[in-house]
Amino acid sequence: MKINYSNVSNRTIKKSRKPRSSSLFHPKKMIKSVGNKIQYYYKLHPVLMFLISLSIGITILVLLSLYESKYRMTSNYNGMYKVDSGSSESYPFARLMNLVMVAGHSVYTSSSCEKVDKDDAWFLESYQKHKGQAATFVSHIEKGVEITGKDNAALLLFSGGETRKDAGPRSEAQSYWTVAESKGWFGKQDEVRWRALTEEHARDSFENLLFSVCRFRELTGTYPLNITVVGYDFKEERFMHLHRSAIRFPDTRFFYSGTPSSQTSREAALKGEALVRTQFQDDPYGCLGPLRRKKFGRDPFHRSIPYPNGCPEIEGLFRYCGRTPYSASLPWA
Ligand SMILES: *[C@@H]1O[C@H](CO)[C@@H](O)[C@H](O)[C@H]1NC(C)=O
Repeated sequence: MKINYSNVSNRTIKKSRKPRSSSLFHPKKMIKSVGNKIQYYYKLHPVLMFLISLSIGITILVLLSLYESKYRMTSNYNGMYKVDSGSSESYPFARLMNLVMVAGHSVYTSSSCEKVDKDDAWFLESYQKHKGQAATFVSHIEKGVEITGKDNAALLLFSGGETRKDAGPRSEAQSYWTVAESKGWFGKQDEVRWRALTEEHARDSFENLLFSVCRFRELTGTYPLNITVVGYDFKEERFMHLHRSAIRFPDTRFFYSGTPSSQTSREAALKGEALVRTQFQDDPYGCLGPLRRKKFGRDPFHRSIPYPNGCPEIEGLFRYCGRTPYSASLPWA
């Protein structure tokens, strides 16, 4: 009887242990048996099994990239939201509110910086070859620096692309910045140099304005409150009326600071200006006919234009081409 009892109790213990031990060891066994099966199928159908593992791998990659791009879109959206709520952390010049734009007219080609006032140090088209032309470029630069120096909230942009084949791949904007540097920022280095940058893609005066507005947004996170354009006095009409209306910027916040052209070039310059003005009247966005062709001629190195990256709110304006004003909404109008 005694033996029987212990047998019984032994059995019950064994019985009660069994399920516990099986629940512990089953998953391992399962993995092992699945592994064995996979190995078995691999030997049986190597190509089929390879294709199956390949497609599983690709599916995982696709899922990961979808997840990543979705994540990126959300973070972009957050970036834009920050702009709207006035956060300043992600933009290097977030506190600047006004744009001062100096439109480039040429590329500086001399290797010496002592000659910035000399005509032969600049790449001049035949229609630009007049005595004293270089000095007028320098006076635009000085004017831009001066206006910026007087406005603590201004960002100065020199604007102009690599427009001259024979001058090599140097931009008008870089040329102007370098001239300002060599002139010691006309005595305003401390106030102005840190907030003087470049817009290096414009191929005509409309692009000088539009691209600089985009560049301003890229640097500050917002669009300019006031815009001041610096250039020749005879181009005032073109900027103030044609280009400004094309981007529908309010005239109460748009200013022009003109300096005279050289005496000897004045007559030809005025004639040329009258022609270009009628062209822009016909084609305010410079995207049809002769203005469009002129831009191709001013892009000898086929530079890709980064905009409207940096100013997503006005992407539509960049894509627009027509004889009537762009009518969709704009951040400033
Ligand atoms: C913009 O220009 C107007 C007119 O000169 C001026 O009253 C205003 O203060 C300027 N705004 C900024 C932000 O500088």
